[in-house]
Amino acid sequence: MMIDPFDRTIDYLRVSVTDRCDFRCVYCMAENMTFLPKKDLLTLEELDRLCSCFIDLGIKKLRLTGGEPLVRRDIMTLIRSLGRHLASGALSELTLTTNGSQLTRYAMELRDCGVGRINVSLDTLDQTRFQAITRWGRFDQVMAGIAAAKSAGLHIKINAVALKGVNEDELSRMLAWCGAEGFDLTLIETMPMGEIDGDRTGQYLPLSLVRARLANSWTLTDLPDCTGGPARYVRVEETGGRLGFITPLSHNFCESCNRVRVTCTGQMFMCLGQEDAADLRSALRISDSDLPLQAAILEGIGRKPKGHDFVIDRRTRRPAVQRHMSVTGG
Ligand code: GTP
Ligand code: 5AD
Ligand code: SF4
Repeated sequence: MMIDPFDRTIDYLRVSVTDRCDFRCVYCMAENMTFLPKKDLLTLEELDRLCSCFIDLGIKKLRLTGGEPLVRRDIMTLIRSLGRHLASGALSELTLTTNGSQLTRYAMELRDCGVGRINVSLDTLDQTRFQAITRWGRFDQVMAGIAAAKSAGLHIKINAVALKGVNEDELSRMLAWCGAEGFDLTLIETMPMGEIDGDRTGQYLPLSLVRARLANSWTLTDLPDCTGGPARYVRVEETGGRLGFITPLSHNFCESCNRVRVTCTGQMFMCLGQEDAADLRSALRISDSDLPLQAAILEGIGRKPKGHDFVIDRRTRRPAVQRHMSVTGG
């Protein structure tokens, strides 16, 4: 078992398999992004070895993220291989966070590899708005992808970043749609990560306000549920569905943090909201034995900070963290 300096058990690993993405969401990326050189990436075999080493050390839940994880070439080879840890019982959940663009192609195969649940990022149900938010996304393709995932039997959670003046008037409709489709919905506050073309200050919408507004038309009952993520859930009595709130800015949930994340170049970030990282790639490449890698992981866990220092800074308008969300995948 991995225990950090604040006595938190670390059993959840998020792996960003690529920093690239086929979308350019305005709150996430600038339109012109410089991505990591391909030669710096861990190979799929190295990613497999890395994940397996983490599983040996006590990781129970593994989530692949990006960028967009499903645009990494041959990604299903990795997912299929990691599925063996579900079969053996070492891993209790293998899942991914995706923008949905490749799901028509991969949904059945994901199910077949043992993936039971996926999170799909979708901030609006309006085609024009979708275009404005994602810049490069194709709405119909994503909706078809979500439908394919549903019919493949995958449980779906929709993640929506709540954006002031952009989709705030639509959140109630999204809640109704998710309820009707049988999807959970999680709302997220925008986090100040990486330079984007616009200004985040104006887009920040506190979810306490959103919840109060939704409570005018829906009956929301607090739930004790914990999926191992930072969301706080309520039951929507009218639909029977769940609604989650991820509130890094208005309410800090770091005290129960159970996770670390690894980038596609093998950097381990112990906190989404801090710059400190541990280099696992050198440890991985230095030897065929996993011992140096294990030592590097444990050393990093030993430096896991208490929490993030996110603020949406109105004075300097500088992001709290320089790297983009697409590097660590949330
Ligand atoms: P579930 O297993 O469904 O609970 O997933 P999750 O909420 O852990 O994962 P998901 O990828 O859906 O995360 C949704 C978003 O929550 C991420 O993209 C981030 O924006 C945010 N998030 C996840 N983990 C953290 C964290 O440790 N700190 C902060 N500040 N935000 C996080
Ligand atoms: N703040 C909050 N959420 C973000 N995401 C991407 N960038 C940000 C940000 N700056 C979300 C995406 C997706 C998840 C991986 O992170 O919408 O749901
Ligand atoms: Fe791509 Fe997700 Fe970032 Fe949008 S939020 S650009 S889909 S990585």
